[in-house]
Amino acid sequence: MATITIDGIRLEVQDNKSVLDCALEAGIYIPHLCHHPDLSEHGSCRLCIVDVEGEENVVASCILRAKEGLNIRTNSERIGKLRNLALELLLAGHPEDCSTCPKYGNCELQTLIQYMGATNSRMRARIKGFKSEERNPLFIHDMNRCVLCGRCVRACGELREVSVLQYNKKELETYVGTVHDKLLKDADCRFCGACAEVCPTGTIRDKTQLLSSSSSKEEALVPCRAQCPAHTDVP
Ligand code: FES
Repeated sequence: MATITIDGIRLEVQDNKSVLDCALEAGIYIPHLCHHPDLSEHGSCRLCIVDVEGEENVVASCILRAKEGLNIRTNSERIGKLRNLALELLLAGHPEDCSTCPKYGNCELQTLIQYMGATNSRMRARIKGFKSEERNPLFIHDMNRCVLCGRCVRACGELREVSVLQYNKKELETYVGTVHDKLLKDADCRFCGACAEVCPTGTIRDKTQLLSSSSSKEEALVPCRAQCPAHTDVP
């Protein structure tokens, strides 16, 4: 065990546990997106950054490990500015049509936008121009809505050990696809639904709603929202 301090609150936590998990379990909400409780940490969205006493640079709390005496702040002025900037960078490549997105009202990115009070990005909007892929059974895959959190790639590789999904590149744009951009049905996909279940945005969607009603034989994943105790406090 280790004693750490988060925003002045002393906590007894498991040594080496992620500081983000320690905070969430104690009911201290730190915004996060690429983190999912069933997956390894990615550390890419930078929304979970915190100030660490004695460190000059901010650190992503999902990859920061608890150790005796660690003292962090989750909500300093500097953190607020940098966190807003991280969200703006995510939004710069994301469509603004939330109200017509099928994931409206059930989107983790939308929840974060509301929680952090960001309405748009000061960055110039990038038009990704991907065609929504609707030819696969069960899933719609709309890469225009992807924020590259990597949850789907990790779910496919770590949880299902299939690794059908990977990062591909088209000119300057990185996207999630398959080897040689094959359709999922031609790429050894088992259609377990893990990618759609962990996707925080409307990128990979279950078009039948069958997976969520247990057509998958494999263990169902619980959305981050349901496992994250502090999510209930997010408006
Ligand atoms: Fe920590 Fe994304 S949740 S960097």
